[in-house]
Amino acid sequence: MSNDFTSVLVENRVFKPSPEFSKKARISSMAQYKKLYAESIKTPDKFWAREASELTWQTKWKKVLDWKAPFAKWFVGGKINVSENCVDRHLLTHRKNKAAIIWEGEPGEQRTLTYQQLHTEVCRFANVLKAHGVKSKDRVLIYMPMVPEAAIAMLACARIGAVHNVVFGGFSSTSIKDRLDDSQAKVVITADGGYRRGSVVPLKKNVDEALKDTPDVKCVLVLKRTGQETEMKEGRDFWWGDEVKKVKTTCPAKAFDSEHPLFLLYTSGSTGKPKGILHTSGGYLTGTYCTSKYVFDLRDDDIYWCTADVGWITGHSYIVYGPLANGATIVMYEGAPNFPEPDRFWDIIERLKVTILYTAPTAIRAFIKWGDEWVKKHDLSSLRLLGSVGEPINPEAWMWYHKMIGGGRCPIVDTFWQTETGAIMISPLPGATPCKPGTATLPFFGIDAAILDEDGKEVKANEGGKLVVRKPWPSMLRNIYGDTERYKSAYWGTYKGIYLAGDGARRDKDGNFWIVGRLDDVLNVSGHRLGTAEVESALVSHPAVAEAAVVGRPDEIKGQAVVAFVTLKEGQTASPELTKALKNHVGSAIGAIAKPDDIRYAAALPKTRSGKIMRRLLKEICSGGKIKGDTTTLEDLNVVAALSAGTKDDD
Ligand code: PRX
Repeated sequence: MSNDFTSVLVENRVFKPSPEFSKKARISSMAQYKKLYAESIKTPDKFWAREASELTWQTKWKKVLDWKAPFAKWFVGGKINVSENCVDRHLLTHRKNKAAIIWEGEPGEQRTLTYQQLHTEVCRFANVLKAHGVKSKDRVLIYMPMVPEAAIAMLACARIGAVHNVVFGGFSSTSIKDRLDDSQAKVVITADGGYRRGSVVPLKKNVDEALKDTPDVKCVLVLKRTGQETEMKEGRDFWWGDEVKKVKTTCPAKAFDSEHPLFLLYTSGSTGKPKGILHTSGGYLTGTYCTSKYVFDLRDDDIYWCTADVGWITGHSYIVYGPLANGATIVMYEGAPNFPEPDRFWDIIERLKVTILYTAPTAIRAFIKWGDEWVKKHDLSSLRLLGSVGEPINPEAWMWYHKMIGGGRCPIVDTFWQTETGAIMISPLPGATPCKPGTATLPFFGIDAAILDEDGKEVKANEGGKLVVRKPWPSMLRNIYGDTERYKSAYWGTYKGIYLAGDGARRDKDGNFWIVGRLDDVLNVSGHRLGTAEVESALVSHPAVAEAAVVGRPDEIKGQAVVAFVTLKEGQTASPELTKALKNHVGSAIGAIAKPDDIRYAAALPKTRSGKIMRRLLKEICSGGKIKGDTTTLEDLNVVAALSAGTKDDD
């Protein structure tokens, strides 16, 4: 790879994979990529059938795809067990005693589970679930720290056909309750606590709070992680450690239909209610297996580390299902990147000899801020490939990642995808694609991505438009749980039979996709999706608030910061105490990531004559810019003048 950063313009810097990297890679040239891509688009059934047949099917499918837009069935008639594919099948190979998970706790403990050991743990826990009455298609909520048991719980659900719903450990009890209500889960899996930046997150306590008005939950299985005092409700709460002692260490991997539901994962949209994205078995596993294989070019001797939390889709697809289906060795780390010092990641990479690192631009920007000296203390020469996910990576962060972490020698795969897509959609292939900092480059095999204008026509090079996918793909979402109408309108209602990603994008003359950002009222805070409507409804649930409008402001580390414009009820006055109380209120309604960075008080919010809040104006105000564009539909121009003059109220 070229090491010359300074002499070229940002847009023109191109980094080709080194001949040594390409030589060993599965896809080793652009010619090979183009040929296979063309084939995969022309005859997608053939491409996906070949990939799926590398998995273990208990009954082979009869038909690859049944597509009645917008409903897809993949590998129709096929029967598969996802857990068997991620665990059991490796026991029949040289991977039997290979490390599946190398785990490090935040306080520093380490544990390694071989595939054989993982198999025993998954079987035991699957038997525990069965003993507590969990049946095929039952929903199970998982609220865990980043410990191997989180993956074990997911795989145990998959083994018996139960549908897991992982809730990120940073979410609040209200978020747990909302998801329990929506998914009608009857069993919760949690831990007493987890470590984060030296303190204990009281996970079980949050679950208890959520369960106060949720009588349908009959069983809570609790892993002892931190050992702090934990209340256990007789007859409802059981310790993981006690329960696994009572059951057998084997559990048959029953065959499930290829379209059997695998999991629900809630994500933000443009309303106040998060959507329960439904993924199913055979197609999802084919997509995550195949993308892990080609995008990370996984090898048996790789030590692969994805730093996401299992509570997000990245943790599902690229910690658990994709890499384990490939028989990879994965690293799992429990805690914060700056505990006890800002070099924890580099220390882990050096000690565990990590070869592939997959992380997020927001983390990279934080590392840049913490200073190069933390990186330079460590030998990162084991790394051979880097990945980025969650938001567009700004060229400055890309260059730093490439130079400081990758030593100028590691390709960077900037992977664009979504909770809904299940697997990577647009990304370089590390042995083939020339990379330009800031672009996710080209579509993955079988992904017919395009950019359309309002009329549904494909835009010309460098023109902006809406990012879409024109053909179904195996790991696509199948529905929004309990809301088929929303599924149809949110993703398939704009262009008939075409998937709308919700992002704006353009393609350069070489065909590279540059993702500009969300077109809807969804923010991207530290690589996590957050609906402005969710934060607004949390704010107006506070007794002092009459109305709230939330917008994003560009932020150096987080990508976007949350700014809330708030009007107060009669008799209420703004104060630093109220600001603090409102921030905490949002924190306890959703989770710490949703806490507004700024709260600005206003006598009124700018609205159109039909009463719609004009967010564009608010965005311009909080970005410090002048009000541009059309304000003719605005009801009261004085409101804008007052807001622009108003000072922001930080605490
Ligand atoms: O806006 C895009 C952005 O993250 C959104 C999806 O968020 P979520 O479902 O939480 O999944 C994140 C992890 C896959 C997208 O609509 N996004 C994700 N990856 C990229 C990205 N934007 C630009 N470049 C990326 N590599």
